[in-house]
Amino acid sequence: MKRSKAKPINIGIIGTGWPGQQHARVMSAIPDARLAACADLDDARRKEFAQTYAPAKSFSDYHELLHDPAVDAVIVCLPNFLHFPASLAALEVGKHVLCEKPPTMNVAEMKVLHEEATRRGLVYYFSRQFRFTPAMRAAKGLIAAGRLGHIYHARATWVRSRGIPQGVGGWFTEKKRSGGGALIDIGVHALDSAWYLMGTPRPVSVSAQVFRNFEHLVQDPVFDVEDAAYAFIRFDNGAVVQLETSWAGNLPDDIPMGQYFGRELNNSTVYGTKGTIRLKPLSFFEDQNGAVETVPVELPDDADSFELQLRNFIEAISGRAEAINNATQAVELMEMLDAIYASSASGREVPIV
Ligand SMILES: NC(=O)c1ccc[n+]([C@@H]2O[C@H](COP(=O)([O-])OP(=O)(O)OC[C@H]3O[C@@H](n4cnc5c(N)ncnc54)[C@H](O)[C@@H]3O)[C@@H](O)[C@H]2O)c1
Repeated sequence: MKRSKAKPINIGIIGTGWPGQQHARVMSAIPDARLAACADLDDARRKEFAQTYAPAKSFSDYHELLHDPAVDAVIVCLPNFLHFPASLAALEVGKHVLCEKPPTMNVAEMKVLHEEATRRGLVYYFSRQFRFTPAMRAAKGLIAAGRLGHIYHARATWVRSRGIPQGVGGWFTEKKRSGGGALIDIGVHALDSAWYLMGTPRPVSVSAQVFRNFEHLVQDPVFDVEDAAYAFIRFDNGAVVQLETSWAGNLPDDIPMGQYFGRELNNSTVYGTKGTIRLKPLSFFEDQNGAVETVPVELPDDADSFELQLRNFIEAISGRAEAINNATQAVELMEMLDAIYASSASGREVPIV
């Protein structure tokens, strides 16, 4: 394979849990990416990470990493409440940012990051590796070729029957540290997958309800977030999406048992005037002379989604490609999440202006 002659981008990973490890794991496959540093307050995690992935430097305080002139870009894998301060501090010292999902805790924070990155000519990129899976890329190819016709509806689903995450110190279930529960944790993935397949139309209004019914299933000291959310979102092109997400619920047996979280279904189905796509397993249902036929679809390859995402981030920094997970979309995604919470609190459909 022809190697890129571009100057390597030196990357610091902040937060060395599972997502930090995934970004580090794929770095050596990208010729112009170097793992320059890592940071984590947890000594044991940081040391294990450093032994496995061998960054040049390792810090407990992420501010020291940010002020290291050898670092060009950071990947923020901290608990949600630190996404905004860490991303902003990174942009302020001239580093490009790839931040784990959710981009921020709310849209106001995300707008600040977007403005700061734009003003400084830096890349702000939100992590959504599921935009790069083989099924997603094949589905996007069919849609780009016009095979779905006009897309008017999508169903976005990520439900678990027994899958409430903990995180270090139980932060996932505490609103001031997480920003929310199942919606902002896994609902954001489901919504983004459907929205991305639909071509990221502009959201205009939301009707939603969130629920907290299953906090007794875990021992977390604070549990003040929703464990389920249901939403109906309208877009400016007339299309709509139905979102269904839960960490816990008494799910029926047509939803299969998963490996870790009880029953689990994580899927997107996108409906068009000429055909429909379901992501998992990737399936294409096409109108052929009035009959709905199942058309086999080949997956493009089995390339690693974290690797493709990081490659796109590096290419966006180098000016060789547009950022696929860009800051404008991060703002609109957060607008939808904020509106879901607002609609649920008010019991009414709320506009997004
Ligand atoms: N893309 C995905 O599929 C995916 C999957 C899991 C988690 N995530 C996201 O990644 C983020 C981290 O999730 P997690 O499951 O790894 O959480 P976690 O609690 O397991 O890990 C967070 C890490 O951050 C460290 N940390 C906390 N405060 C710090 C500070 N001030 N300075 C330095 N280090 C600090 C902790 O010690 C810990 O190692 C969350 O935003 C989560 O939503 C994304």
